[in-house]
Amino acid sequence: MEISIQKAGSLKDLPDESELAFGTLFTDHMFNMDYDLDNGWHNPRIEPYGPITIDPSTMVLHYGQSIFEGLKAFKTPEGEIQLFRPEQNFTRFNQSAHRMCIPAFDEEFALRALKELLKIEKRWVPSAPGTSLYIRPTIIAMDPFLGVRASYTYRFFIILSPVGAYYKEGFNPVKIWVTEKYVRAVPGGVGEVKTAGNYAASLYAGEEAHHKGYTQVLWLDGVERKYVEEVGSMNIFFVIDDEIITPALSGSILSGITRDSVIEMAEKWGHPVTQRRISIDEVVEAHKAGKLQECFGSGTAAVISPVGQIKYKDKTLAIGDGKVGSWARKFFDAITDIQYGRTQDTEGWVH
Ligand code: COI
Repeated sequence: MEISIQKAGSLKDLPDESELAFGTLFTDHMFNMDYDLDNGWHNPRIEPYGPITIDPSTMVLHYGQSIFEGLKAFKTPEGEIQLFRPEQNFTRFNQSAHRMCIPAFDEEFALRALKELLKIEKRWVPSAPGTSLYIRPTIIAMDPFLGVRASYTYRFFIILSPVGAYYKEGFNPVKIWVTEKYVRAVPGGVGEVKTAGNYAASLYAGEEAHHKGYTQVLWLDGVERKYVEEVGSMNIFFVIDDEIITPALSGSILSGITRDSVIEMAEKWGHPVTQRRISIDEVVEAHKAGKLQECFGSGTAAVISPVGQIKYKDKTLAIGDGKVGSWARKFFDAITDIQYGRTQDTEGWVH
């Protein structure tokens, strides 16, 4: 498919890179593509960034048939622009599409479209330390219809946002709160796909965490409320004694690309991550015995987010003396060194 290009008449001023927040600014152009039953995915185009006019009855607004991805473009010291494992994002995007009854798209084509968009928007990739261009591919159901069924029409779009740190704490330990009352996902549900409703479902507990003075929620499994699943919108890792542990993908946990990168690196370093169930009681016991060395989240937005404190029931578990743990630091450095092209990409992760 040929991608048509319509350039913006005037371009925005670039932001001050030292003041970049997360997800507040958007570039001059976006990619759009439509789906209908007669034409499949068609009319791929790069256009000026702008509002999408939709009917109030548009299905996505009512039933949330919507999926998205998050990845980043980085500037290397030589001024080249790199993507980190983007094919993984488009593969997962199609898996999310499948689960949400959204028609599959051509992953290679989507990656080519993203690269075309980035060529036009390359001036927006920031170079200040810790900054990048966040990429948000999204698909939404477009039928103007109020019955409950899968839509027959869709919009696929990609928008770009120059970003700084995701958490205001930056790469510093955050405090998290274990909710016993609310759950993020259940087996057989949609917790393992990147669909809008998962994030809406997480908000209430997130607000409660904020009110109590915590940055994020630590989610337990939806059946027994016993096993750790995720932290905020990230995967989670623990270091107990010498064992690096992350919850095994159970069906209600998102298969994070940063999670996978941590696992692959640890394997390569000869210190494999154990993927297994880990109960909150095991975490408490390990802390009591002085064996809980580290806890950290992993995700595209923050990369690695060290956890300095866990609040569970009436217990406050302090981890690592307020300092960033050595494994969190090691993974953060190794992944960001590859992403920013400061080290050779021996994994073939970079485009
Ligand atoms: C991530 O990249 O860690 C996330 O899932 C956050 C994103 C939804 C903003």
